[in-house]
Amino acid sequence: MNNDIANTIRSKVDIVDIIGERIPLVAKGKNFFGVCPFHDDTNPSMSVSREKQIYTCFSCHATGNVFTFLMNYEHMDFKEVLKYLGDRVGINTGNIKITNKTNKYTKLYEAYNLSVKYFQNNLNSSYGTKAKEYLIDRKIDENAIKEFEIGLSLDTKDDLTRLLQKKDYDLVTLNRIGLSSDNHDIYNDRIMFPLYDINGRCVAFSGRIYKNVDQNKYLNTKETEIFKKGELLYHYHIAKEECRIKKSVIIMEGFMDVIRASTVGVKNTVALMGTALTKEQINLIKRLSNNIILCLDGDDPGQHATLSIGEALLENNIEAKVIVLPNPEDPDSYILKNGKDSFISLIENAVNFTDYKLRRLKDNVNFTSTEETSKYINSVIEETSKINDEIEREVILKRLAKEFDIGYNTLEMRLNRLLQKKPKKEQVIIPKRIVEKKDKYRKAFEQLFYFMLNNDWVITRVENERLIFPEEVMRSTCSEIIYYYKKYGSINEADFYTYIQDKEKIQNFLNSVLAGNYNEKTTEEELVEYFEVIKEYSKNQEIKRLTNLMKKEIDPLEQAKITEKIRKLRLRLGDN
Ligand code: UTP
Ligand code: MN
Repeated sequence: MNNDIANTIRSKVDIVDIIGERIPLVAKGKNFFGVCPFHDDTNPSMSVSREKQIYTCFSCHATGNVFTFLMNYEHMDFKEVLKYLGDRVGINTGNIKITNKTNKYTKLYEAYNLSVKYFQNNLNSSYGTKAKEYLIDRKIDENAIKEFEIGLSLDTKDDLTRLLQKKDYDLVTLNRIGLSSDNHDIYNDRIMFPLYDINGRCVAFSGRIYKNVDQNKYLNTKETEIFKKGELLYHYHIAKEECRIKKSVIIMEGFMDVIRASTVGVKNTVALMGTALTKEQINLIKRLSNNIILCLDGDDPGQHATLSIGEALLENNIEAKVIVLPNPEDPDSYILKNGKDSFISLIENAVNFTDYKLRRLKDNVNFTSTEETSKYINSVIEETSKINDEIEREVILKRLAKEFDIGYNTLEMRLNRLLQKKPKKEQVIIPKRIVEKKDKYRKAFEQLFYFMLNNDWVITRVENERLIFPEEVMRSTCSEIIYYYKKYGSINEADFYTYIQDKEKIQNFLNSVLAGNYNEKTTEEELVEYFEVIKEYSKNQEIKRLTNLMKKEIDPLEQAKITEKIRKLRLRLGDN
């Protein structure tokens, strides 16, 4: 482990800056507060401490230092975070070796990695001539083929399965992860598009037919441990960087659309790949940019999807922008027909989702009919009531009043009635620390650990006292703290978090301690009281254990021995 370099880097960055660049933080007293990105919330329940360089969420108890924040928020691994922060503060991390904990999925990713390479080789071999022709015909050039790692599965039925078997993958695994079925390949004679997770690892494939055959156009890998359709967005790993530069994210339907847009330099894109937008995906998109542009297919299903996705985003307080493609083009065909500049001007002229919706309301309305006209006006007011911005609401009503020559007040009255019915927006208050119900012993234990993390001298006292903690996690946390203190000569929470980043149980325990609203400083007298509480607890536990033993014991001699033990313990309780 490279705790020393990690700690040097950590000491040079300010967690408030790093988190503040990602979520808005408001200063309040000594700390900063923001909406916690690790659970679904709209209240600022995350506190960030400049002094301690840690963050704590009072609701979900997510806690840690700048490393854990970036690992969880950006889905980076520790090495990536070190490099990212190292670059920021000018520390070269090039030759750091970090013992990466082997992920339980590592072998699965490797299987996919091998498959990508295998498919790529096929496409470049003489077997790939027809497929290449197809791709060239579709104007997918060599660069795109390389960039998106496009390949080809053969019609030999079991080549990939054999290859992976030789690499020590058993059939059960290959079936489980969606590469084989029985002892055959899943994919036969298809152009293979790797599907990536948000970290850019290939976790599945979509195989497209390219000859005139009567089969489904695309065949996708089934859902597996590493491929959950609703939790990924195609191209997310590239969009992460691009959206920061372009300050917007464009959502498309298919990966071919994304690939096409990429060939004309538009890379701040993600694709849904034929699914409805899930809550997880909305959260992922929110991280990319506040400026979300929908660019779905121009056909009827695409327009429907635009409405429902726009509405789903609105429910999450995001007003998207909309690009309307002529029916039935998709971004792929539009770009091919009209070129880069035309597409970029569509992006620049994307309209607000509400405007799009209002325009759509007009479709098929017969304005010579009084009934249809007033129905239309009512539905416009209904939509207007969903808008949070008062000025925007007024602009829409004024236009409506003018267009149909109706009194503004009449419209406003109707709107206000709808607004009153709507549940009031939750007030944003900084929640008090939510303290779980913990008994006095648990609190005493946690307080003691909090003292240790904040007062070096307490560590030595705890060590000398030889306390017996009742839970395994407390014992291991205690010995790690003592070990760390002896090695580094002092302790602080932020660095200690780096040290225990592989030790999940200890982390969870510390999260609970840090969210517990404990005092920081203590005195020798107070500490002694805590020791007593803990000793009393240990004795009570021991008495309980012996009493249980006693109930099961049938030998009178043994019973007498146990009774004597209990009596002695009880006595000692008294003389504390
Ligand atoms: P489309 O049918 O719009 O794909 O489906 P496309 O991008 O236009 O494909 P080409 O141009 O015909 O090759 C959009 C997305 O829906 C999923 C795929 O992820 C695709 O990118 N889909 C579509 C499937 O999963 N299976 C299918 O049979 C079709
Ligand atoms: Mn399409």
